Amino acid sequence: MWAFISGNQVDIKEAKVSIMTHALHYGTATFEGIRGNWNENNNSMYIFRMKEHYERLLRGCKILRIELPYSVEDLSEITIDLIKKNNLKEDVYIRPLAYKGAEMVANLKLHEVSDDFALVTLPFGSYIDNSNSIRCQTSSWRRPMDSSMPTGVKLTGLYTTNILAKTEAVSAGFDEAILLNQDGTVSEGSGENLFMIQNDKLITPAETDNALLGITRDSVIELATKEIGIDVQERRIHRSELYLSDEIFLTGTAAHVTSVGELDNRKIGSGEIGKITKQIQDLYFSVLVGENSKYLDWCTKISMD
Ligand SMILES: Cc1ncc(COP(=O)(O)O)c(C=O)c1O
Repeated sequence: MWAFISGNQVDIKEAKVSIMTHALHYGTATFEGIRGNWNENNNSMYIFRMKEHYERLLRGCKILRIELPYSVEDLSEITIDLIKKNNLKEDVYIRPLAYKGAEMVANLKLHEVSDDFALVTLPFGSYIDNSNSIRCQTSSWRRPMDSSMPTGVKLTGLYTTNILAKTEAVSAGFDEAILLNQDGTVSEGSGENLFMIQNDKLITPAETDNALLGITRDSVIELATKEIGIDVQERRIHRSELYLSDEIFLTGTAAHVTSVGELDNRKIGSGEIGKITKQIQDLYFSVLVGENSKYLDWCTKISMD
């Protein structure tokens, strides 16, 4: 298996950093999770919304004052080359990481610490089983506010909270955690955005509710409004509104569209995958593997013959 680091493709065993690396000590890095979806029917890989993922990575870089020598187009080319080199003919997870790579353990001035970029592509099946509804727990950990830690981009340091929340939920026998904001309103899952359905309307927390602006979230909003004709509202959500909603689902690159059947030991709707959630899941899965001609521009096709 090959990786890309410091401008070169190298054997993944050689893609190493020093114990002195700034990002390892302080979480001064930003990353993306991108999926390449394998379509057996035409022996091709479809990378989902690669451009939007790299645009978000570069927004994270701007916040952390990481200056990469690459444009979105360069990063896309590096990714395609690595997938071809690894000859992966299955679903893959693409993990780019832009980080403060200098060996400086006692410097808190971002502008003095130099940067690096690494990329790995790994075989990746399902993260959460989407064929059934999952059971969630409201976390005792709160989502940080953007005023404490920028929440609209994927900064590695921010994920300590998400990992504590996911670990707590799974250790208590649940599948996933839902994080509230400091004021008790709903933010998102540990690695997913949240949608609830009330009276045939989709409602999701806004950017100002400290939710990551997910690319799956954006795709679902577009598919729901344009293809199914459902109204989507971005607004603050009270915790108790979730208990009383008709359906809840989570969205994310790893989790796709996952139905929530139970929250804090209360059934959501029937507890099974709801009607609207199922419609959105079916549409989304056809788009992912390039089987919906209207949304082919969301997919970068790589033929792997
Ligand atoms: C905290 C968090 N929220 C939401 C998402 C969903 O974002 P996306 O759909 O871009 O993967 C992710 C995954 O990247 C995440 O880590």
